[in-house]
Amino acid sequence: MLTSAPVPLVSFTFGVPSPAVIARLRSAGTVVAQTVTSADEARLAADAGVDLLVVQASAAGAHSGTFTPQHVPPSAPIADLLAQVAAAVPVPMIAAGGLATPEDVAATLRQGASAAMVGTVLLLSDESGASATHKAALADPARTQTVVTRAYTGRPARGLRTAFIDRYDAMAPSGYPAVHHLTSPLRSAAAAAGDAERVHLWAGTGWRYASEEPAAAILSRLAA
Ligand SMILES: Cc1cc2nc3c(=O)[nH]c(=O)nc-3n(C[C@H](O)[C@H](O)[C@H](O)COP(=O)(O)O)c2cc1C
Repeated sequence: MLTSAPVPLVSFTFGVPSPAVIARLRSAGTVVAQTVTSADEARLAADAGVDLLVVQASAAGAHSGTFTPQHVPPSAPIADLLAQVAAAVPVPMIAAGGLATPEDVAATLRQGASAAMVGTVLLLSDESGASATHKAALADPARTQTVVTRAYTGRPARGLRTAFIDRYDAMAPSGYPAVHHLTSPLRSAAAAAGDAERVHLWAGTGWRYASEEPAAAILSRLAA
């Protein structure tokens, strides 16, 4: 489908597809991006032939793209990660993870990134599909901390700290997507009931900068 009706860009995360898959996409005119969380992962992606690397720091909201989810990725600053990846491979980098202000974005461009990617700062935007429960929690001043946990899905992901994480984090196995499917009905029911303590409240470290306005306004400000 993606080769018979090509799209401009395809991005992969959680692991690198085969070089043959990447070559087929590229020969259809598609730019191929790969999320990486370390220099080792960047080498694997470069060897497989991707065009772009999304260099994701552990400050990022939601799932880590790590290729080894049995280990929680170290919390390296984005600047360090960009330097390590740039030293390892000559592939253009998109910086991601915890970028929430124009200063953050400008710094990553100075540090060698060709572009910056944001997720968390868009979660309260007019276009966001986050649940009302998720949005209310993001705006709740009583929430003071994000943590990385496998409790909800079996793969490390960053979100606002909840009672569910406090109860299950220490015993959560590495088991994505099985754990995701196991907890999904519970999380959906909790979101519908407004019970934020059982919902995956995905958020990166910059969640306080999420604002209720059009996404275009948020992005224009970050790029200024
Ligand atoms: C709610 C949410 C869902 C996400 N879903 C995906 C996804 O499906 N695929 C993907 O490659 N990255 C996904 N991301 C990660 C972003 O692409 C990016 O790495 C991250 O948001 C950057 O960090 P930030 O959230 O601190 O801005 C998601 C992020 C958030 C917050």
